[in-house]
Amino acid sequence: MFCPNILSFISSLLLLFHGVALAAENHEKFLKCLSLQSDTISEVLYTQNNSSFSSVLKASIQNLVFSTPENPKPLFIITPFHVSEIQAAIKCSKKNGLQIRVRSGGHDHEGLSSISDVPFIIIDLINFSEISVDVEERTAWVESGATVGQLNYRIAEKSQNLLAVPVGTCPTVGVGGHFSGGGIGALMRKYGTAADHIVDAHMIDVKGRFLNRESMGEDLFWAIRGGGGASFGIIVSWKINLVSVPSTVTVFAVPRTLEQNATKLLNKWQYIEDRVHEDLFIIAILFRENSTMVSLFTSLFLGGVDRLLRLMQDSFPELGLTKEDCREMTFVESIVYLDGFEAIRESINVDVLLGRNFFRPFTGKIDYLTEPIPEEAFLGIYDIFFEQDQKTNGRLVFFPYGGKITEISESEIPYPHRAGNIYTLLYYAEWGQEAIDEAHQTHVNMLKQLFNYMTPYVTKNPRTAYINYRDLDIGRNNKFGPTSVQEAGVWGKKYFKNNFYRLVHVKTMVDPENFFRNEQSIPPFNLVKDE
Ligand code: FDA
Repeated sequence: MFCPNILSFISSLLLLFHGVALAAENHEKFLKCLSLQSDTISEVLYTQNNSSFSSVLKASIQNLVFSTPENPKPLFIITPFHVSEIQAAIKCSKKNGLQIRVRSGGHDHEGLSSISDVPFIIIDLINFSEISVDVEERTAWVESGATVGQLNYRIAEKSQNLLAVPVGTCPTVGVGGHFSGGGIGALMRKYGTAADHIVDAHMIDVKGRFLNRESMGEDLFWAIRGGGGASFGIIVSWKINLVSVPSTVTVFAVPRTLEQNATKLLNKWQYIEDRVHEDLFIIAILFRENSTMVSLFTSLFLGGVDRLLRLMQDSFPELGLTKEDCREMTFVESIVYLDGFEAIRESINVDVLLGRNFFRPFTGKIDYLTEPIPEEAFLGIYDIFFEQDQKTNGRLVFFPYGGKITEISESEIPYPHRAGNIYTLLYYAEWGQEAIDEAHQTHVNMLKQLFNYMTPYVTKNPRTAYINYRDLDIGRNNKFGPTSVQEAGVWGKKYFKNNFYRLVHVKTMVDPENFFRNEQSIPPFNLVKDE
């Protein structure tokens, strides 16, 4: 007699072999389908057997946590030059049961543009990086694979440093992910998010159609400006209105230790950062240095140093800012400065903005606050820093709010974090490249401790979050089977508040079978589960 365990073992083996054979057959079919759809695809297609596969895969995984050998690999990578190649990839993936991960700059905090635990391909838009600036019209068309640093470099070059796009403070971030998730940075108090300025886009939808604003319709155009592009299709390019910047801006980076009154200063910062003139953007970065804590106040001011000193004297005299602390420069130089002020002492080379490599292991979380935390609460934060091993490298970035970003209605675009918020708090850690996995866990634990500690002081019901700081701890879609709107609402309402429901509505219209999906994609309204 056969033992039932052996029988089930044999049947699982048979199923496995069948599955592998079926998968291999599907891959062949996928490749055949591609070659029928596109004459040029073979030039931009990398199979796992290709000698460049690994380097092409790693070329844009900016968070090194997701390039270690344990991470799942795509079956194929496509680096298209032509829209027709993207259309072919969508049609053939759909036909052969493969999922697509779209990658622009590759900075996704959870690596979702490069990994998946179901069979998948990557469409990497690294070759879609053209930028054309129209100074007279004050607009630019930019392809998704360009970085935000490259974009502002080209705009500055064409406009003699007088125009810009309001984007985040990390220049290597890709336009595709950044614009489709919102985009907040040093110009947000003056001008709002990047997505607030988008006026047209070109994308490929689930049917492989090439759409512009008019043909996609206002609902879909609304959704891709902050709702996360990956739920809706592949956005290849964006048209964005440019904003004015003065020919001279001023920056500073002033550190203060506990002995130099860091706590009182940080406390005061909470009361002024969202109320000062909208030309002034002051970030506070809190970190441990040996046996003390440092609060580093770093700033962009849209104007010259004399005006800045007057404003600081009025609003934040306790910092004791002097002319010697400040540097005047062009706006595009300030991007380089704000990104790397710790290392920048002398001249600033703006050509670094043309590079696209960030490449380090990192982890992060975000919170929004609607009122200052009590001064004593900072002491509990310090305790958590001091409990860590000296090598642990976390920091808290207090990102100011107020101004234009809070004047735009919550439902104007999917990015909903507007009036009422006074600052955002970024929990961030990056570390060296040795023992990536081990150090990852240490830093994740530290940030979680800080995040838990902050619970009483941050937004509630929901505790809001920002899709561009993707965080799978706040919830994820079911791995097997559909996810109901209610289930996805757990994380969706944190990112989008009530805009989540409009995003579900758009998703149901444009991708009812949920082809474009990932761990945190918007689900379509599902008749069975959502009744
Ligand atoms: P990536 O290519 O990984 O894409 C991110 C997501 O968007 C993925 O789900 C991907 O599939 C999808 N996607 C990408 N391109 C798409 C396309 N063309 N069509 C459809 N879907 C697409 N943010 C911010 O607002 N302000 C800031 O100051 C910073 N600073 C910052 C610093 C650092 C060091 C990091 C790592 C990140 C930030 N960010 C940020 C967050 C950043 O805006 C966010 O990670 C973006 O989604 C990154 O866009 P990429 O194209 O680089 O990522």
